[in-house]
Amino acid sequence: MADKQTQGQQMWGGRFAAQPSDIMQSINASIDVDKRMVLQDVAGSRAHADMLAECEIISAEDNEAIQGGLDQILTEVAAGTFPYRVELEDIHMNVEARLKEIIGEPAGRLHTARSRNDQVVTDFRLWTRGALGEAQAGMRALQKALVARAGEVTDAVMPGFTHLQTAQPVTLGHHLLAYVEMIERDNGRCADAAQRLNESPLGAAALAGTGFPIDRDMTAEALGFDRPMGNSLDAVSARDFALEALSALAIAATHLSRLAEEIVLWSSAQFNFARLSDEWSTGSSIMPQKRNPDAAELIRAKASLIAGQFASLQGAVKALPLAYAKDLQDDKRLTFEAFDTFGLSVKAMTGMIETISFNREAMRAAAAKGFSTATDLADYLVRELKMPFRDAHHVTGRIVAAAEAEGAELEALPLQSMQAIEPRLTEDVFSVLSVEASAASRQSYGGTSPVRVGEQVDQWKQRLGLETDTA
Ligand code: ARG
Repeated sequence: MADKQTQGQQMWGGRFAAQPSDIMQSINASIDVDKRMVLQDVAGSRAHADMLAECEIISAEDNEAIQGGLDQILTEVAAGTFPYRVELEDIHMNVEARLKEIIGEPAGRLHTARSRNDQVVTDFRLWTRGALGEAQAGMRALQKALVARAGEVTDAVMPGFTHLQTAQPVTLGHHLLAYVEMIERDNGRCADAAQRLNESPLGAAALAGTGFPIDRDMTAEALGFDRPMGNSLDAVSARDFALEALSALAIAATHLSRLAEEIVLWSSAQFNFARLSDEWSTGSSIMPQKRNPDAAELIRAKASLIAGQFASLQGAVKALPLAYAKDLQDDKRLTFEAFDTFGLSVKAMTGMIETISFNREAMRAAAAKGFSTATDLADYLVRELKMPFRDAHHVTGRIVAAAEAEGAELEALPLQSMQAIEPRLTEDVFSVLSVEASAASRQSYGGTSPVRVGEQVDQWKQRLGLETDTA
């Protein structure tokens, strides 16, 4: 329960005779969430106080006292002894109130030419900038794991699917590198978001700027921002930086979810392409044989949670008149949760990929099923017999039908059966009907052949700073 004595010291309490109700306090307080921005809040206050002193808005002595008090606050935070108090509402008032307890009167000068509206969004931009960096580092680690594994399986043939129907043989290395490409774009989206958000709202004050002769360039520079934001109304009310970060995460999580789905499929008895290590499998409490891919399934589910966090924030912002409104307080809960969820997902995926084992035989056998080299046969007819592709497609379709009737795959179909449909075919046709030959033939840039995939692996290893041993 809130202590009425402390409540009486409400920072904004001057014009009120009665205390806020307990429920008002509960709905209003954000400290449980925004205490994660304590370091950013202190950094913002340091920069602001230095600037106030430099511009002779506060005295050098007051600034010294403020900086010393903030040092102590950092020590308390690191030691876990900083007193976060719910009756002080949010992190900004918690830090300022503690500063007052430590240094007394000069603490009251820190909030000159500043409002919580520009303060909170300064903290939040700093936090999001750091979180985007961490998300990128997580994705880099996953890319490294994928590239390392791809390098081991550049020539492992597996079925490539469209409509989840066997389409053409591909190599597992090629398949894994597809995710490396996706994650590269995800990384790029995070980098773009981090760059675009890097403008300082500090000094916008409540919404209209301030009459004090502040130096916004100085605080922007001190906090590592590229420049001060050019419009104070925009500065305190814009949250598109958070939306952009969440959308980048939602897309990246979507990619993780697709890979997770493949892991779920591959590790089933029906596919049997892969086996998760013990560390990344879970058992069933009733069925002793089970090795469940729970982490992959959770990654799949979490992708929608993150997309939901984006949608929730978009909903909160879309009808807000300028400038600040308290709806914006919940931006942090959504954003923190999305980054936490994403960070966990990407780490779990990295762990699974590092330790998963692949079953080359099962993949090869599956690749040979479903007449997966039919396109190679049609291409062969075009190349060797100069048939128009449409005719070759038709003839191949008839050969596939014959193979199906005989219960044989194309590479095992007797030559006579093929010649009954196209008499000009010779033994030479078998050179294109194996899954290895099919994959090896696809040497177009970006194609699945082990040669091309090996080149891509080398390039990725270089880009990611991995050893380029290469066999
Ligand atoms: N805790 C608030 C938030 O997170 C800080 C800004 C409060 N500003 C205000 N005018 N009440 O948005």
